[in-house]
Amino acid sequence: MRLDVFFTPNQVKPIETAGRLVVIVDVLRASTTVATALGNGARTVIPVEGADEVITRSRDFARSQILLAGEHKMYPITGFDIGNSPQAFTPAVVEGKTILITTTNGTRTLLGVQNARDIVIASYVNFSAVLAMMKVAASSNTDIAIICAGEEGSFTLEDAACAGRYVRAIPKRADSIQTNDAAAASVVIEKKYGDNIAKVFKESSHGQALKSAGFGDDLAAAAQVDSYPVVPIYQDRQITKLGPERAR
Ligand code: MLT
Repeated sequence: MRLDVFFTPNQVKPIETAGRLVVIVDVLRASTTVATALGNGARTVIPVEGADEVITRSRDFARSQILLAGEHKMYPITGFDIGNSPQAFTPAVVEGKTILITTTNGTRTLLGVQNARDIVIASYVNFSAVLAMMKVAASSNTDIAIICAGEEGSFTLEDAACAGRYVRAIPKRADSIQTNDAAAASVVIEKKYGDNIAKVFKESSHGQALKSAGFGDDLAAAAQVDSYPVVPIYQDRQITKLGPERAR
């Protein structure tokens, strides 16, 4: 089976997602936010392309059922209920809600995936939950593609380091798993930082930008490994938590 990493979504050819388990990584912050929202009881998260579409889709719901969420250049969108700070998605705010969200890179990456077998959202906060699903896929010879959202088409250190943590954690029986060079490189990056995720964020340009913009607390939240043990799965244009009420 294949286990490939793509450092940006524009590197991915449709054939590289078809039939695969696709794992989307946008550690800062969309993946972390989605896992936090679902972990704190949101009913579903609907990712859409752009603020206008959030408004359009919101008309399908009673206003009390939904939250309008997302960021533009890191900040909450004017008129929306909530931005893209994982910490804002508390149980009191999200319990039972449908969250319509748009973000610069994370939602765009997700919406661009074609013909995958399953699409899941991964980060440090739900690391082991997604890893368990990846291990099941690997043991049944399902190919896996880890797609880093990156930043406006560019490589990001934090997504690569998180991808490397996954690649490293999947047991490789001799010759049974083939990886691409980006997967090998992601492991090199992960080994450099190990559990010092705060250092990854400190040295990453988006981590630095978030800190300067006053979102330093989001970095601390995003570094909490396994704080939200959920598998967010994207099916039928919405992301829900894999579990008894949502089998795949
Ligand atoms: C994105 O999807 O582009 C990011 O989550 C941006 C952000 O940090 O809000």
